[in-house]
Amino acid sequence: MSRSTNKAIIRILADGNFHSGQAIAAQLQLSRTAVWKKIQSLKAELGLTIHAVTGKGYWLPGGLDLVNKQDLVASISDKDVYVAVFSSIDSTNQHMLECADIDDQRWGVCVAEMQTQGRGRRGRQWLSSYGRNIQMSIGVYLNMPMVDVSGLSLAAGVVLAQFLEDTGVDQGALKWPNDIHINGKKVAGLLLEVKGEAEGPVKAVLGVGLNLDMSETEGSNITQPFTDIKSHLNGVLPSRTTMVSDLTERLYLAIQEYQQKGLAGFLELWKRYDLYLGQEVIITSAANQFQGIYRGLDEQGRLLLETRQSIKIFSAGEVSLRKQDQDG
Ligand code: BTN
Repeated sequence: MSRSTNKAIIRILADGNFHSGQAIAAQLQLSRTAVWKKIQSLKAELGLTIHAVTGKGYWLPGGLDLVNKQDLVASISDKDVYVAVFSSIDSTNQHMLECADIDDQRWGVCVAEMQTQGRGRRGRQWLSSYGRNIQMSIGVYLNMPMVDVSGLSLAAGVVLAQFLEDTGVDQGALKWPNDIHINGKKVAGLLLEVKGEAEGPVKAVLGVGLNLDMSETEGSNITQPFTDIKSHLNGVLPSRTTMVSDLTERLYLAIQEYQQKGLAGFLELWKRYDLYLGQEVIITSAANQFQGIYRGLDEQGRLLLETRQSIKIFSAGEVSLRKQDQDG
């Protein structure tokens, strides 16, 4: 049975109402047994909660606000763009890295309702349940040396922090290099991956994972304190399609600014959201730990740590940052 049948059943159940097996079968020209089998596999493979209630039918409690590809395409001002919306994929970053539909003339964005191998920084996994959060990646060719591309994820962090604020979420803060926190809990992360020649052009893929609606049960395998934006918006979220559209537009504009002016235009704003500025922190590298006062970023986006002896400078790839007395 095809993937489109999968999607079609999920779309029917996404309204959160009861749908009889007979009605679904008629709509999709399947047998009732085929519908039943399909629903078992959706439960097993995508982790969806679907109840079968005698006399009423199948029911997906609370429904799902699925990302609508047509609306997303219509909302993007640049029309020469590759757009993909997946039900389930290994990783949106992986897809964009491999995607041959983007080139030096054409950028792209892809979104997934669920990732089976979503990845985070430093070899971590990125976990998210089906249709509840945002997993998206933007792929673009940049005509600059590879070493200059890394600051793009810092610029994107600023975009994400502003997006949260404009959406009504107060207290979103940037934890260097690529995390967004609210009151000490992680709400979003960015993963920049690149491929190409050292001297450029470079294919840059910027992945965003944003928790919109992550219950304690759904997040039970996440190994660090997390939160979602629903908890900070009195339980009411804007539509996921609107949020993905808005983020796509903002990130693409930021990429263009980054291409023209580099990180300079983003550093003042970074300060505004900087989580640990002026506070005692610990920096951990593979071999060492350093303690000192976090003094923000230099013009290349590297971290400045004031120790008793000197100001030490750290690049994002090599270390992790935490406040004293907290987990990494
Ligand atoms: C981190 O905080 O460690 C970075 C998380 C980045 C997760 C996003 S979800 C969309 C994109 N695809 C991936 O596989 N990862 C990024």
